[in-house]
Amino acid sequence: MPKMQLERLLRSQGFGSRPECRALVRSGRVSIDGMLCDDPFAEFEPDGLLFSVDGVLWTYREFAFLALNKPAGFECSHKPKHHPSIYSLFPRVLLTRNIQAVGRLDEDTTGLLLLSDDGQFIHAYTSPKKRIPKVYDVTVKHPVDTLQVDALLEGVQLHDEPARIAATGCEVRSEHLLRMTVTEGKYHLVKRMIAAAGNRVEGLNRIAIGGFPLPDSLPIGQWIWLEASDLARLARPQQ
Ligand code: URA
Repeated sequence: MPKMQLERLLRSQGFGSRPECRALVRSGRVSIDGMLCDDPFAEFEPDGLLFSVDGVLWTYREFAFLALNKPAGFECSHKPKHHPSIYSLFPRVLLTRNIQAVGRLDEDTTGLLLLSDDGQFIHAYTSPKKRIPKVYDVTVKHPVDTLQVDALLEGVQLHDEPARIAATGCEVRSEHLLRMTVTEGKYHLVKRMIAAAGNRVEGLNRIAIGGFPLPDSLPIGQWIWLEASDLARLARPQQ
């Protein structure tokens, strides 16, 4: 990657307009590889660059790819109606970069949610054509029976859908818990499928997308950067 002036580099990472980034550097609040740099026009190779702003360490990233462990009670919208927005869980620089959720989870659904500022990535992972498997732990109201599991695997007819929709996986984990895989991203899909099979969702937690599982170590409400190896796992079919 060609070298970049510091003020441009900071701008690309969400630290504000070029004049704002210039002022930030001139006021001595930016260090590169641990050394204070107050020249906004100093040039650096951005790939893998470690820099700090007000003592907070960042790595240069051309695009932001993030995974959030979504809590219940948050809406996947910039303009939430009844609950706080998931975007309130991220620092301002990422919002300035205009990160967007890759698809949406309902307000009461928890678990793995991807976000990015890369339009191509968002498009690829929301496109129905790609049929990315998404795995949910589904807590249901009534004890699960084999007829319900068979119906989910064979396909259930939803209102407003021309064809039946089938789960590509449905494992009974306990009397009230199913692990279900779907490859479409329609509104309330899992809740509607479970209702069509004669049961009712009481709790929904997304535990994987593609071959990428929600990391056990990621606390609810926290997010991580996705690295190249995570993106490669995402692109692989479910494991
Ligand atoms: N299906 C649903 O019904 N809700 C979600 O949040 C995700 C999948």
